[in-house]
Amino acid sequence: MKTISLDYSKARQFVGDATFAAMRDKAAEAQKSLEAGTCPGNDFLGWLHLPSSISDEDIKAIKAAAATLRAECDTIVVAGIGGSYLGARAVIEALSNTLANLIHDKENPTILFAGNNISEDYLSELTEYLKGRRFGVINISKSGTTTETALTFRLLKKQCEQQRGKDTARRVIVAVTDARKGAARLTADKEGYTSFVIPDNVGGRFSVLTPVGLLPIACAGFDIEELVDGARDIEKAAAAGVPFDENICLQYATVRNALYSEGKKIEILANFQPKLHYIAEWWKQLYGESEGKDHKGIFPASVDFTTDLHSMGQWIQQGERSIFETVISVEEVNHTLLFPHDDENLDGLNFLEGRRVDEVNKMAELGTLLAHVDGGVPNIRISMPKLTERYIGQVIYFFEKACGVSGNILGVNAFNQPGVEAYKKNMFALLGKPGYEKEGEAIRARLAK
Ligand code: PA5
Repeated sequence: MKTISLDYSKARQFVGDATFAAMRDKAAEAQKSLEAGTCPGNDFLGWLHLPSSISDEDIKAIKAAAATLRAECDTIVVAGIGGSYLGARAVIEALSNTLANLIHDKENPTILFAGNNISEDYLSELTEYLKGRRFGVINISKSGTTTETALTFRLLKKQCEQQRGKDTARRVIVAVTDARKGAARLTADKEGYTSFVIPDNVGGRFSVLTPVGLLPIACAGFDIEELVDGARDIEKAAAAGVPFDENICLQYATVRNALYSEGKKIEILANFQPKLHYIAEWWKQLYGESEGKDHKGIFPASVDFTTDLHSMGQWIQQGERSIFETVISVEEVNHTLLFPHDDENLDGLNFLEGRRVDEVNKMAELGTLLAHVDGGVPNIRISMPKLTERYIGQVIYFFEKACGVSGNILGVNAFNQPGVEAYKKNMFALLGKPGYEKEGEAIRARLAK
């Protein structure tokens, strides 16, 4: 079986031999404590061997719920935020026709994402769009108390019941949430919705291979068995005991931390395929929320090339040399399109006539790599044979495992996110939530100064 590959030869030259060797040892230790379950945050390691522990029954249940939603809905709204949303969106957008939501093909429902903002305009326009449509909802929230998702679900539940009747609504609303606690669980049990459990020991950003990601992906018509098999490929290929030279997770964790220790504080994830935009969004959360702690951590940024070569390209080529670049490269695209002839040749591009558009893109990619390395930007390259469920599953698990190792190298708890609470506390105090009276008084006094 072919797998994704990693090339860090254009990053290695930016790191001294001693630094690299020391980091390699640290990575080996970090992987050991991760596998042994002795690292910080070890009560959230359920993702580590998740691919190999997903059973046929799990897949069957998810596919059955997806089949019901697909049969009864022309539109499915996936309500969730952060880890309860980005993985599903990343996979669906990577595999879908770029214009999927404009095509409205009869085979697949339109998949929309909501519950990931508090915009009155967004929600008004969404509910307006859903009027008259046979829509269903997947309500995803581990805590069941996230404001963005809870607000959206209130609106959608009411609208779905009004438009489709209570009985149908019960069939086309599915919950993915905690086994016991939270509003999403209570509502699901009270209404009798089909529901799936997010395991206690899997945090949001590591949950794409649970029903959090698998259900929406199956609803969109993609092969979740292949996705899980892809994750299993890398679970095996990066298992404990696999030597460094064969273990791409260890290599990536080592190189990025070695670069960080040499002052490269920002990692830019770049792609040359617009379908990968949300893979980068998912990756930013995975690494940002896992590593950005104790005033440490590489800042994860992303760009879509060649688009952003015309906006961020200048900064990357000649700005502060505190960055390194990780490129996800897709070897084979899905379509064939040749550069067309033009009789007038006013743009001077007839020399490209008859050549694949992808060849031009690949030369842009190679040219960019060489220019950025020459400009002092270390380059790591992740190569995917094709955009398929299998290879995307491999990419997902590759980044997850490397993230666990990398956070461990850094010495942080890679599996919590205490910093996310700070804004919520202020927001609830400002909004007068019961229980936040003292904080409300303090914040108002501060603002009045
Ligand atoms: O990774 C995380 O833990 C977060 O991004 C959460 O997934 C996000 O805040 C949503 O939380 P919940 O699923 O509890 O609604």
